[in-house]
Amino acid sequence: MAAPEATAAAQGTNATAQETIGRAGTAMVEFSRVSKIYQAGAPAVENLSLSVDKGKITVFVGPSGCGKTTSLRMINRMVEPTSGTITVGGRDVASIPAPELRRSMGYVMQQSGLLPHRTVVDNIATVLRLNKVPRAAARKRALELLETVGLPAGMARRYPNQLSGGQQQRVGVARALAADPPVLLMDEPFSAVDPVVRAELQAELLRLQRELAKTIIFVTHDIDEATLLGDKVAVFATGGRVAQYAPPEEILRAPVDDFVANFVGRDRGFRHLSFSPGTDVPLHRAPTFLMDDAGRNQAAASAAWALAVDGDGHPLGWLPPGASGLEIVPGGSLFHPGDSLRNALDAALSSPSGQGVAVDADGRVAGLVQAPEVLAAIDAAREGRS
Ligand SMILES: Nc1ncnc2c1ncn2[C@@H]1O[C@H](COP(=O)(O)OP(=O)(O)OP(=O)(O)O)[C@@H](O)[C@H]1O
Ligand SMILES: [Mg+2]
Repeated sequence: MAAPEATAAAQGTNATAQETIGRAGTAMVEFSRVSKIYQAGAPAVENLSLSVDKGKITVFVGPSGCGKTTSLRMINRMVEPTSGTITVGGRDVASIPAPELRRSMGYVMQQSGLLPHRTVVDNIATVLRLNKVPRAAARKRALELLETVGLPAGMARRYPNQLSGGQQQRVGVARALAADPPVLLMDEPFSAVDPVVRAELQAELLRLQRELAKTIIFVTHDIDEATLLGDKVAVFATGGRVAQYAPPEEILRAPVDDFVANFVGRDRGFRHLSFSPGTDVPLHRAPTFLMDDAGRNQAAASAAWALAVDGDGHPLGWLPPGASGLEIVPGGSLFHPGDSLRNALDAALSSPSGQGVAVDADGRVAGLVQAPEVLAAIDAAREGRS
């Protein structure tokens, strides 16, 4: 049921779509028995009922062709439902003129969808200009947004094809945020970039969301991305049926059926560790030695693995037992303060020495973690001892 203020806003005849959306209660977007049948085919979305929380990230995840994009696009009427109702901020989207509705929400796609013949700053300012914001004010806001998404001001004058894929996606996010919309629709926005950039963009989105608290509906087919980003995750099955809609921790711990269990995959036990803090994992003193700027190893050969550090104590790699000279091997993943048991275990398992390197907030070596002790911490967490 719509919250009272949302209902009042929905009845207000003068409110713009964006004002109405801004006054919604806890449910921002509601699908009610929504179906979409393209031409005379099988339903792309069938009888979807789902409520999206305000100010949270809701992820639609599922295999290809299961109706995620169709569901997303019905929210801003890029696709019209065959039957059923969608409300945004308590107001039936069918009652809002489609162009106005679209401008009231940010939309980010897999390929950034930037206009190739316009500069970055003009791309970001597009919706502001459509909303009749004067040119100078729109550009000023666009430049602020460039900074918000972590791009240098010097990129403002470039054209989209002069940016990397990751930079283009950041511009796409800035453009979507330009009119400060309460709702952001994101359709596989990070799927076309390499895994390292993708991880950066994911972290950046979470950081932005802590500041902005938008209602974000995020589509992906990647369960890892879904569980990382989602406050809640809807797992779609073929035909636009939602098999499970729950917080990610619950989907990994207790998939409702074989479809969801298969989709979240064999590694779900390992992924579930992402939700357990690694604070109780013991840290051991690290046998470090200094490697100077010229890269010369200042250690004598030792009987055990030794960790090379720079002058500030940042880890550089491992020296195998009995080795000397420049035989440093790359380290594994690092374990940061506040990381989960998953990170702790990965740090230990990925390290050539079998000991995971923990670093402090400044990236300096803080100690070593050992896999058996991480496993003991996992047992303790399961038994509720920590
Ligand atoms: N314009 C269209 N005309 C006809 N059928 C369509 C159209 N758009 C989508 N479909 C069909 O609807 C179903 C759902 O498509 P949709 O694009 O919503 O899936 P999806 O979950 O986003 O998939 P993907 O992960 O591949 O992006 C598919 O069977 C697709 O072929
Ligand atoms: Mg899609």
